[in-house]
Amino acid sequence: MINLILFGPPGSGKGTQAAKLVAKYELLHISTGDLFRYEMGNDTPLGKEAKSYIEKGELVPDSVTVGMLRNKVEANPDVKGYIFDGFPRTTPQAEALDNLLSEKGQEVSRLIMLDVPDDELVRRLLERGKTSGRADDSDEGIIQNRIEVYKSETTPVFDFYDAKGKSVKVHGVGTIDEIFSRLCHEIDEL
Ligand code: C5P
Ligand code: MG
Repeated sequence: MINLILFGPPGSGKGTQAAKLVAKYELLHISTGDLFRYEMGNDTPLGKEAKSYIEKGELVPDSVTVGMLRNKVEANPDVKGYIFDGFPRTTPQAEALDNLLSEKGQEVSRLIMLDVPDDELVRRLLERGKTSGRADDSDEGIIQNRIEVYKSETTPVFDFYDAKGKSVKVHGVGTIDEIFSRLCHEIDEL
């Protein structure tokens, strides 16, 4: 099994690249952001709770996010592996993921970070906001907060897996196909 964490700041291209990677490697793409948006769209209790954080660009509490992720993984046991997109966002989420995978006799194969400068992130997110319908992509203050939260709460996850020799960085600027081939190069080494 290949269990990949596709990592990087908001707007770094995780979702775009995950869609291409699942087609090539037959992995299940799990985006916790997409799962939250699905719940919000259906106005479920989970969606209502998540919305109060997401609309400010803050993180949903670990227990909520981990529970949702666990349900998704357990509902899809017979896959060749997973691409985790937008998860883990904190060190406790990383520890929870390692526990969940080890219960299945699995582990994280690699964390690949898409490295993109801040000004490019803001530019991409504002552009995406014109069509995504996402309120958190349309306001520059919320975007800046998401980038700050990434730096303070999420970058420790890179170090967490780096200490296990599992983290790599990939240059995340270029055409979609150029970035895709950089990612494939890392995955094909596994
Ligand atoms: O991953 P994505 O950028 O789509 O996530 C959108 C929002 O969902 C984040 O800004 C955050 O508010 C919330 N989220 C979270 N914890 C995660 C994933 C997403 O709080 N693990
Ligand atoms: Mg995304």
